[in-house]
Amino acid sequence: MFLHIRTLTRQLGDNGIQRFIIEAAGVKRPFSFINVAMTADGKIDTVQRKGAAISSERDKERVDKLRAESDAIMVGGRTLLDDDPKLTVKSEALRLERAARGLPPNPIKVGIVTEANINPDSQFLNVGPANIVIFTTRWTSKHHISLLKSRGVDVYVDDSEKVNLAKALDTLHELGVDRLMVEGGATLNYELLRLGLVDEVFAYVAPMIFGGANAPTLAAGPGLERGEAIPLKVVDVEKWEDGGVLLKYILER
Ligand SMILES: NC(=O)c1ccc[n+]([C@@H]2O[C@H](COP(=O)([O-])OP(=O)(O)OC[C@H]3O[C@@H](n4cnc5c(N)ncnc54)[C@H](OP(=O)(O)O)[C@@H]3O)[C@@H](O)[C@H]2O)c1
Repeated sequence: MFLHIRTLTRQLGDNGIQRFIIEAAGVKRPFSFINVAMTADGKIDTVQRKGAAISSERDKERVDKLRAESDAIMVGGRTLLDDDPKLTVKSEALRLERAARGLPPNPIKVGIVTEANINPDSQFLNVGPANIVIFTTRWTSKHHISLLKSRGVDVYVDDSEKVNLAKALDTLHELGVDRLMVEGGATLNYELLRLGLVDEVFAYVAPMIFGGANAPTLAAGPGLERGEAIPLKVVDVEKWEDGGVLLKYILER
C-alpha cells in the first residue's frame, strides 16, 4: 500500500552522492540500502553463526566507503548481540573527508533489537566516537534502558513484540538521517525488504560455498510465496580479480 503513493525527492549532496527523502503515506524515511557479503550459495555466514569472514580486502575498502557516505548504519539484534560489530569508518582519510564536509567522523550506529541487553564492554558501544540509537521493545528491562541512556545512547522503546521498522526509519529521518546503510543480518534484511523500506541492494558474491540449510542467507524470515516475490532490477555487475562479483540491484516498484 505504501508503494503506490510514494514520492521521491532527489537531492545531490556536496560530494555528489545521491540522497533521497522518501515520503509514503505521510511518513518520511531516509534513502536506504542493504549491503551484504555472501557466498555463491547466498550464505552470509556459516551454520556456526560466528560472523565468518566473506569479504575480500577490496570489498572491505568498498564497504568502508559506503559507510563513510552514509549518515547511519543499521544492524539487527542477532548481529548486534552475537557479532558485536564496531560499525565505524576504518580509513582515516575517509573520516577526514567526512570532517571536511562538517560531519562527525563516523555515521550513527543503529541497532534494532527486541531485548537490548547489550554488553557495556561491547565494541558496538565503545568503539567510536559515534552517536548510537537503539530501537527496542518492552522486553528490554528498565535496568538496561537506564544503562544505555547513561552511556549517551538514544533509546526508543516500542510497546510491541517487535520494533516497528517504518516508525524507526521515520524517527531516523527526523534525526537528520538522509542515507541509511543496512548491514544485516538476514532477518532484518527480509523485514525491511518485505515492508518496501529498501531502495538498493549491494551484494558482494565471494567465490566460495558454505552450504548448510540453517546458515543465514541474504534474506531470512518466514519467506514469501512465489507470487509475492520481491522483484529486483540489476543495475550494475562487476567481475573482480579476487574472484568475487559485485551486484547492485534497485527495488522495482
Ligand atoms: N555477511 C554479511 O554481510 C552479514 C552482515 C550482517 C550479519 N551477518 C550474519 O547474519 C546473521 C544474523 O542474522 P539473523 O537473521 O540471525 O539476525 P539479525 O537480522 O541480525 O537480527 C534479527 C533480530 O532483530 C530483532 N528484531 C526486532 N525487531 C525486528 C524487526 N522488526 N525486524 C527484524 N528483526 C527485528 C529480532 O530479535 P529477537 O529474535 O530477539 O526477537 C530478530 O531476531 C549472523 O550470522 C551474522 O554474522 C552477515
